[in-house]
Amino acid sequence: MKLFIDTANIDHIKEMNALGIISGVTTNPSLCSKEGKDFKSSIAEIASIVNGPISAEAVSTTRDGIIQEARELSQIASNIVVKIPIMEEGLAATKVLSAEGIKINMTLVFSANQALLAAQVGAAYVSPFIGRLDDIGHDGIAELDKIVTIYDIYDIKTEIISASIRHPLHVIQSAQVGADIATIPYNILKQMLKHPLTDIGIERFLEDWKKLQETASPIK
Ligand code: E4P
Repeated sequence: MKLFIDTANIDHIKEMNALGIISGVTTNPSLCSKEGKDFKSSIAEIASIVNGPISAEAVSTTRDGIIQEARELSQIASNIVVKIPIMEEGLAATKVLSAEGIKINMTLVFSANQALLAAQVGAAYVSPFIGRLDDIGHDGIAELDKIVTIYDIYDIKTEIISASIRHPLHVIQSAQVGADIATIPYNILKQMLKHPLTDIGIERFLEDWKKLQETASPIK
């Protein structure tokens, strides 16, 4: 399973990219608004940092408006993927845009039925929102599992991005059910790395190494 970072924060993207653990970025209007910077120039900067798919969301609500916006966004850089919400206008726009070779990430997906529809119109990616389903007492991972199973049966090429990840366990569960990608907030990527036994282990190895340096007789 590939890991993307779910943020528009340039410093966080640079940091995780330097570690070599992320292969793409997803943003959304809320994440961009949090950073308070010009949308298009931020997306251009992100696309120049990470050598992988960068999702930028279209906010138009008509078919033609979405098509125009998506064409403009796709011109920013060759690795731009346009995020389009799953709604009638979004499906109709995706059908046209996919045929033009513009990669679409169908977003705000909450059911296997919606994921099936996204595949019909040639979306390159589909983003089921796991955490938001859990938030309302549904089982996000169970819905993701259904999507993976259906896509596998019919050999559907649309890649599944497990989104709206709330904690490190969601990442493990997404991998277990076979998501292609998990898009993960910065703080959860950090949490994934941490284990108290690793910290204790490093400390102990360093102490013992220091002791060895103090006691060992020099090689003759
Ligand atoms: C996915 O691409 C979305 O940006 C994101 O995962 C939404 O997560 P949230 O439910 O934490 O807003």
